[in-house]
Amino acid sequence: MRPRNDSRPIGVFDSGVGGLTVLAELRRRLPAESTIYLGDNARAPYGPRPADEVRTFTLESVGWLLAQDVKLLVLACNTATAHALPLVRDVATVPVLGVVRPGAVSAAASTRAGHVGVIATAGTVASGAYAAAVGEADPRLVVTQLACPELVPMVEAGQLSGPVAEATVSGYLGDLFGADPLIDTLLLGCTHYPLLRPVIEQVAGPHVAVVDSAFTTALAAEDLLDVLGARTGQDGPGANRIVTTGDVATFSAVAATVFGAALPSVEQAVVAAV
Ligand code: DGL
Repeated sequence: MRPRNDSRPIGVFDSGVGGLTVLAELRRRLPAESTIYLGDNARAPYGPRPADEVRTFTLESVGWLLAQDVKLLVLACNTATAHALPLVRDVATVPVLGVVRPGAVSAAASTRAGHVGVIATAGTVASGAYAAAVGEADPRLVVTQLACPELVPMVEAGQLSGPVAEATVSGYLGDLFGADPLIDTLLLGCTHYPLLRPVIEQVAGPHVAVVDSAFTTALAAEDLLDVLGARTGQDGPGANRIVTTGDVATFSAVAATVFGAALPSVEQAVVAAV
């Protein structure tokens, strides 16, 4: 489809650093597109918060991104997607993609045993969004969910490997892998968790496929821009802004593990009274 030369950026939102895993995939797939990433680190984690609070914080953050004149909004946060996607779609003047359905589609495509394990924040698990989305992708699949509340604070603190990370991940996953039929696909239902992927894969073992929503969300974004005829007309690499409501130095340290030397300098913004 012919692009209509819409050079406005794609807005990407997460409660903190986790959505960078989705941003990285978007950048790989759509290098000519410009992006603005907002992490609401000042109020992360969202996972343990009541649904109403997550909705308020998400709407405030999304409001800031919409004010930057984005052409597409990606809610790169499962907790925000699970609690607030329909609301955000109501207020947004541009199309909005969440990460739950793309993750569920990946997991449904991956499992052979028909049993998918989902690890996520307490809020996402309580919402039942993944059980519903995997069931929508294939109603025959069994889904076992587990909330892992210690993982997001660990990632936000930059603790991505080492004995503490291994022990914490083992403590959670030990509860999942005794079921019958055995779980053969583990869905990372939180965008922070791919930053722990090496540890998670090691603990889960070689017979478990570890999948996340980053690749399929980027694919969905690409398809949507094509359907809308809204790709940028520019040839060169797009411009990228990364913004946090929290501490720039802490954010930059974790973000550098995702983007390495390609990390743009991180800005700070206030989206609401915190
Ligand atoms: N990265 C987010 C998610 O995908 C939220 C983590 C949090 O703030 O608790 O759920």
